[in-house]
Amino acid sequence: MRYITVALAKGRLAKKAMKLFSKAGFPCEEMEDPDTRKLIFENKEKKIRFFLAKAPDVPTYVEYGAADIGIVGEDTIAEEGRKVYEVLDLGFGKCRMCIAGPAEAAEKLENGSLLRVATKYPDIARDYFYNKKHQTVEIIKLNGSIELAPVVGLSDVICDIVETGTTLRENGLSVLAEVMDLSARVIINETSMKLEKDRINDIVDRLTKEIREEV
Ligand code: PRP
Repeated sequence: MRYITVALAKGRLAKKAMKLFSKAGFPCEEMEDPDTRKLIFENKEKKIRFFLAKAPDVPTYVEYGAADIGIVGEDTIAEEGRKVYEVLDLGFGKCRMCIAGPAEAAEKLENGSLLRVATKYPDIARDYFYNKKHQTVEIIKLNGSIELAPVVGLSDVICDIVETGTTLRENGLSVLAEVMDLSARVIINETSMKLEKDRINDIVDRLTKEIREEV
């Protein structure tokens, strides 16, 4: 029997996802060692292996079949636009994609001025402004600490994830509009879905059962 490979988005999501896999009957002890430099961790008995990747790379691994299953945020799935099946909402990692900025940007947003929008998610931002709001904007791609952009004058607003709202608050910014609700999702490679249907369905069913019991 071949291994089923699971790609996990590094960080908070991966930790929560591994807890869930463990409860669902797919534990992976070697992954819990904080000093390990290994990249792939396996459960030999269940023939399942896990690896950590940068979030935007998870849908790529899954589309190409290097991973059968991926665990990643809805934001990344929407931004990457990869050909994968999205099969389950894990219910954790809940946050919102928002347009945020200083109070004075609210008026510019309302009257459809040509805004500068800083974001790690240019496709989501473009879709929101062009297709939903029919507003022309200039999008500036950044790679992190997006809240800095309006504070130092790089952009008028940002399109970014808001979880607790602390980062916005501490930098004098607030939510001006909501783009979409987000949470962690399970994605599946299209070919694996056919060739490993029974094993994939079994894993997804067990994860689903654990989520239901947690609620
Ligand atoms: C995310 C997001 C915000 C922050 C929101 O950044 O981009 O900056 O978390 O969380 P809060 O509403 O609870 O304050 P992340 O920590 O992932 O790092 P990044 O800034 O490098 O993108």
